[in-house]
Amino acid sequence: MRLLVGLSGNLNRPSRTRVLVEAIASQVVSRGGWRSECFDVLDAGPALGATFSKDAAAPEHRSVWDKIAACDAIVVGSPVYKASYTGLLKHFFDLLEPTLLAGKPIIVCATAKAPHHALMIDHQFRPLFAFFGSWIVPTGIFATDADFRSPENLGDGLSAKISKAAEELRFHFAHELNSPKLG
Ligand SMILES: Cc1cc2nc3c(=O)[nH]c(=O)nc-3n(C[C@H](O)[C@H](O)[C@H](O)COP(=O)(O)O)c2cc1C
Repeated sequence: MRLLVGLSGNLNRPSRTRVLVEAIASQVVSRGGWRSECFDVLDAGPALGATFSKDAAAPEHRSVWDKIAACDAIVVGSPVYKASYTGLLKHFFDLLEPTLLAGKPIIVCATAKAPHHALMIDHQFRPLFAFFGSWIVPTGIFATDADFRSPENLGDGLSAKISKAAEELRFHFAHELNSPKLG
């Protein structure tokens, strides 16, 4: 059974972003052969922002880090803050070893108030994971408040897009695009 880890950059709960990350993870799991565990940066503990090395990381921070290192694929999401992902999410990634996400498939998603900030996915998230050498699925998922019935409940409007991203992830593994032979 493969492990999908969801990581959301939200700093508040309830979080629309975390709900979106969990919805994407459950679409992948529903196709079979996967289990998922979802976290947000708050799960890494209140000390995350004042942690400057892995050696200094609190146990709850290391636990999220270790899951990211060990998993087969990741769903990363963030609320758009000042036209980018949240600073604390970037800090989490700044502390990771540069090779840790190489070749790892990633589905990216974001939530925001302004529809035009959908560009955050392509202008901010994709370059970050290109740096890590990750395999980013083509379909990114972006939601505004209008896509939610409530902060805890995603509406149905994004289901086709979420399914497409989950299919792209399935395609990746079906065609062994993560095979060492390609490296
Ligand atoms: C500090 C801060 C900065 C924000 N900046 C933006 C922004 O630049 N563009 C935007 O469309 N929404 C912005 N928002 C709104 C959030 O992106 C939006 O409400 C998001 O869905 C919240 O996600 P969450 O429920 O997971 O926290 C901002 C919110 C906060 C608190």
